[in-house]
Amino acid sequence: MKRIIVAIDGYSSCGKSTLAKALAKTLHYAYLDSGAMYRAVTLYFLDNQLDYNDPEVVEEVLQHIEIHFERIDGQNRTFLNGVDIERAIREMRVSEHVSPVSTISTVRRAMVRQQQAMGKRRGIVADGRDIGTVVFPDAELKIFLVADPEVRTSRRHLELAAKGIDADWHEVQRNLLERDHIDSTRADSPLRQADDAVIIDNTLLSEEQQLEKALALAKERIPAA
Ligand code: DC
Repeated sequence: MKRIIVAIDGYSSCGKSTLAKALAKTLHYAYLDSGAMYRAVTLYFLDNQLDYNDPEVVEEVLQHIEIHFERIDGQNRTFLNGVDIERAIREMRVSEHVSPVSTISTVRRAMVRQQQAMGKRRGIVADGRDIGTVVFPDAELKIFLVADPEVRTSRRHLELAAKGIDADWHEVQRNLLERDHIDSTRADSPLRQADDAVIIDNTLLSEEQQLEKALALAKERIPAA
């Protein structure tokens, strides 16, 4: 059966990764968490106390980082220079800096190149902010996921708690809204709905219900032969 590319974009914490993971699992496709790559680059700047506002430093950093994903015990884990950084990249200190880092065009070019290579053989579900518009403009299915900001905040707060990260609810909301603003107003590849994307509002949907909707859309687009 021919394999397609599914691109899922949307604001922070609207359930993109939950849907993308479930869809990838059901279709037996690879899952690409593009946000994890921007988070990994951000972590490198923070841990090495490097200034991401200095273009020469950015060029240098991009020469020294290798990001890849591994599946361990059924979980998708992000590696930076051979080290599992899955937990560290979800911390608030990374969330605080990731949007400014992802406005840098040289960073974006490097990440997009790697993401496009990962989708070369299709059979991939990718989530992010520019997947349907820039990374895979020819994706057979583009979904633009939306959800109420209060619901998004509570989901992210719960997700952090489940990972043992204790964050203040209002702090989480402030960070989400700030990232929404930076991500959608930046000059290079701002978050926007692709013209041919289908909107799914999951405010009142369960995980199963949103998967069902997305799966129906994917099946309509997977050629039979
Ligand atoms: O999906 P996430 O919250 O883990 O993404 C973290 C940040 O990375 C997000 O605020 C903006 C940036 N990002 C991006 O610029 N482009 C993408 N395709 C994915 C994420």
